Amino acid sequence: MANPIITQPPPPQTSREGRIATHSHIKGLGLADDGSAMEVSQGFVGQQKAREALGLHLQLLRLGRHSGRPLLMVGPPGTGKTALALALSQELGSKVPFCAMVGSEVYSGEVKKTEVLGSCFRRAIGLRIKETKEVYEGEITELTPSEAENPLSGYGKTISHVIVGLKTVKGTKQLRLDPSVYESIQKERVVVGDVIYIEANTGAVKRVGRSDAYASEFDLEAEEYVPLPKGDVHKRKELVQDVTLHDLDMANARPQGGSDIMSVMGQLVKGGRTEVTDKLRREINKVVDKYIEQGVAELVPGVLFIDEVHMLDMECFTYLNRALESPLSPYVVLASNRGMTTIRGTEYDGLTGGSGVGIRSPHGIPIDLLDRCMIVKTALYNRGDIRRVIEIRAKTEGIQLSVEALDRLADEGERSSLRFALQLLTPGSILAKGRGATEVGVQDVGELSELFLDAKRSTGVLRGMEGMQ
Ligand SMILES: Nc1ncnc2c1ncn2[C@@H]1O[C@H](COP(=O)(O)OP(=O)(O)OP(=O)(O)O)[C@@H](O)[C@H]1O
Ligand SMILES: [Mg+2]
Repeated sequence: MANPIITQPPPPQTSREGRIATHSHIKGLGLADDGSAMEVSQGFVGQQKAREALGLHLQLLRLGRHSGRPLLMVGPPGTGKTALALALSQELGSKVPFCAMVGSEVYSGEVKKTEVLGSCFRRAIGLRIKETKEVYEGEITELTPSEAENPLSGYGKTISHVIVGLKTVKGTKQLRLDPSVYESIQKERVVVGDVIYIEANTGAVKRVGRSDAYASEFDLEAEEYVPLPKGDVHKRKELVQDVTLHDLDMANARPQGGSDIMSVMGQLVKGGRTEVTDKLRREINKVVDKYIEQGVAELVPGVLFIDEVHMLDMECFTYLNRALESPLSPYVVLASNRGMTTIRGTEYDGLTGGSGVGIRSPHGIPIDLLDRCMIVKTALYNRGDIRRVIEIRAKTEGIQLSVEALDRLADEGERSSLRFALQLLTPGSILAKGRGATEVGVQDVGELSELFLDAKRSTGVLRGMEGMQ
């Protein structure tokens, strides 16, 4: 093997947070200690049976005893299937990998369907790697880059080295470091007063947090304060890293290092899908197995959630059946809002005598896979539940509603769907603002229901037109 398998994850990509998304109000499954679902908790309203079922699965998952049987959530649209899956991911915490995909994501002109599924499976399997590393750790007391004339161009200056002072409870040390380390220091946005560690053999810099000596500087800020490290500056430290198999695939597939044009181009496509071959995966699996055997790493099976699973076709289902049986399988959660439908990919393959109808099956899932699933049903909401969800949602979006408007929206929700009622919230607030009011009134909701049709009314209109022809 030319290149050793990399077990370092790529640096985490910073995500934009704080936006209000469809499910922002959901904070967890809202279960009591005994596992029973509370009426309203953590943003979840009603749907108790399904929540309790998921809670039970959560326990199995925590014990590492999921038996390779997928969980299938079925129910009418807008009954909280996707919300339940997200709640499950929140309960799992950030250390357990969770990969969410939608069935239709497998269809791409460039990548094979099974390849997309395969990479999602690997995103959902984590590895906790414990390593003892030689590090320099401490609070930064000094950070001075030293400049020198650029020997090549004569223009501008380059950094020749950087002096970093590190302090721990036990003592201080001044390090003279290579300019490449300075780059990583800048990338981590490290400043004097931060606690960092630098890996001795790779030069990788990790910011641990801000030293708590600076804690009283501001009243309010999003900063993690950490105590001054104990022991010497230069020491051996046990580091725990959480990576997914997919991280390892990508780190090994991407061209590494160098400054020639090919590796620069390689860097450009890193967000895109570079091909990860089966051979590479097998090699990575081998190294992973060895790590697990040696006790260096521990497998953390996560959750793979496939929403709208009826969008998968026969080829994907066959792949899924096989992947579920592998020892490196995550816990799979599926969701579908379909009843009896044709399984995709069976319409024209002659299986049904070329009738073009295809094989019909519940939820569009082949019977053999369905047989393995534990099925959880989500039920339709009553008016009270709908009213409560709207209330919670309005609070999350920062929209004020009058009581009558809330009642009217609940009526709309009951007549049409919860989703439709929720969709009226933001436009309602715009209308209210337009007439100079701070809270959404019943007239705004009334106006909206004239402006927008819900699915039922729209169908009604079409039926009416058919009747006229
Ligand atoms: N029990 C609930 N408590 C709080 N919010 C809910 C609840 N059920 C659904 N919601 C909210 O209602 C909206 C629709 O729910 P969701 O998208 O989960 O439905 P779904 O079952 O996945 O529907 P579909 O089958 O169409 O995908 C979301 O904004 C969701 O957060
Ligand atoms: Mg959904």
